[in-house]
Amino acid sequence: MHRKLRTWFRAQARDLPWRRTNDAYAIWVSEIMLQQTQVATVIDYYHRFLHRFPTVQELAAAEIQEVLKYWEGLGYYRRARQMHAAANQIVALHDGLFPTSFDDILALPGIGRYTAGAICSFAYDQSQPILEANTQRLYCRLMKWQDDPKNRASQQAMWGFAEEFVPQTNPGEINQALMELGSLVCTPTNPKCDECPLLAHCPTRKDNLQGEIPRPPKPKDFEHVHEIAWVIWDGDKVLVRQCLPGERWEGLWDFPRFPIEAEEHIEEGRSAKLKTHFGLTVKTPTLRMRIKHGVTKYKITLDCFDVQWKAGPQKQIGNYRWLKFDQLHEVPLHSTARRIAKSILAGRVE
Ligand code: ADE
Repeated sequence: MHRKLRTWFRAQARDLPWRRTNDAYAIWVSEIMLQQTQVATVIDYYHRFLHRFPTVQELAAAEIQEVLKYWEGLGYYRRARQMHAAANQIVALHDGLFPTSFDDILALPGIGRYTAGAICSFAYDQSQPILEANTQRLYCRLMKWQDDPKNRASQQAMWGFAEEFVPQTNPGEINQALMELGSLVCTPTNPKCDECPLLAHCPTRKDNLQGEIPRPPKPKDFEHVHEIAWVIWDGDKVLVRQCLPGERWEGLWDFPRFPIEAEEHIEEGRSAKLKTHFGLTVKTPTLRMRIKHGVTKYKITLDCFDVQWKAGPQKQIGNYRWLKFDQLHEVPLHSTARRIAKSILAGRVE
């Protein structure tokens, strides 16, 4: 199986930038970015991030605001904050040299068993198993594992499979190949079994159970939420606020926003809330755009209104700042706020 997999990988693998390096730091950056983000999106971010922060030291020395700026658009900003903390830990505990032992790597913030195994096998050729979304699907099918892959017993079984499978020689290549096979061939729907180098070893394919394995997750119970975001104008300035510790987007900047209880309360509720939340009096709200997006189990409808500031705190107060609208690119905004900012900068009302 190793031989077939290596042959297939050498012929078919995508040429991805993090596969051209054995710098543990660069591999770490790529793996953290790839945790919740597609390969195609990550490539540009990866290059830009490493260009600005080419070493652990440079990342550790940077302001978190700047790190977040380089992360802007990738989402899940906790990853960036943890990387920054980990970089500082590496400087403090390991003289700025990326650690080489699995346990030291695992001890860093934001690094779990998968990421530690990936770094150890890709950068240092250590024989460490890996298990992430693509390999999970592949292992389930190679084991004809019919239970829910999320439960403890299933996770144990899959890690056990990975431990047995990972070779002593060039384990990084096998791990990359397993992920690549999961991602390109052993896909969630319509897997390309005819192209699979492990076809002869796959009991799932033999019994034609690809549709049932891995067992699909239970459908989520979505919760619908309605929010209002405000683009509050004073001349050519708009009001933005920095999210506080404990808030979902800690450290990032946002337009003032709050949830609205129900659709029918929007009209009378929104201006009153703006007064009670922010002490601001405004006039003539106009709808700029409606954004629908999902965060975990929430389905969010965000209505964005432009309003003219009339009275209330105008000077910089606490975590609020009046920014000229063409300065909006200077602060890290989270994704919906960035969409609103783009619409402002494009000078259009959607
Ligand atoms: N997903 C997570 N890690 C990856 C990697 N190294 N290459 C491609 N996809 C990945």
